[in-house]
Amino acid sequence: MTAADVNLYGTVHGGVLMKLVDDVAAAAAARHCGGTAVTAAIDEIVFVEPVRVGDLVHAHAQVNWAGHTSMEVGVRVVAERWDRADETPIEVVTAYLVFVGVDATGRPRPVRPVLPETAEDERRFREAEIRRRHRLARRRAIQAHRGVGRAPAPADRGGHAEGG
Ligand SMILES: CC(C)(COP(=O)(O)OP(=O)(O)OC[C@H]1O[C@@H](n2cnc3c(N)ncnc32)[C@H](O)[C@@H]1OP(=O)(O)O)[C@@H](O)C(=O)NCCC(=O)NCCS
Repeated sequence: MTAADVNLYGTVHGGVLMKLVDDVAAAAAARHCGGTAVTAAIDEIVFVEPVRVGDLVHAHAQVNWAGHTSMEVGVRVVAERWDRADETPIEVVTAYLVFVGVDATGRPRPVRPVLPETAEDERRFREAEIRRRHRLARRRAIQAHRGVGRAPAPADRGGHAEGG
């Protein structure tokens, strides 16, 4: 992180870290679906610790879950002091993002499933299903509250919304 990345308080601007989170998640989603994937939603972004100018920042992303056309990507960002080799990198940001695989016209297209390989993958997969149910329920509730007239998408009517 450089002096160009600071906020008014002298630590690294959250938006700089959000872009990093989105970029690394996009790469994971694109690799998973073998093509273009766009960010549909970002939620549960948590800034755990401030990042300082000079910190070496590493971002790790994993596709936790995939539905018909969407994928949930989990991101973990860690930072280490540039001049200290004896300290363990600290967790600074965590986030969950939803990406949708799209075709050349920008319309959603099917993506390949996630096949958990380890117990940790399985845990992430199951927890992603919980988050998805909550996301879609929240969206439906807000749309209903606003009296939004648009016909619900297939995913909103059950099916994938109930767990992919
Ligand atoms: C993302 C986008 C392609 C979705 O198009 P859409 O017509 O709303 O698609 P659908 O309603 O059929 O939903 C497609 C999938 O995304 C999921 N989805 C869409 N919006 C979502 C949201 N806000 N939260 C969670 N999932 C969402 C649906 O559940 C569905 O998942 P499934 O196919 O795995 O069951 C469209 O909204 C879009 O182009 N948004 C702009 C993207 C963008 O510009 N991002 C920033 C730059 S990359």
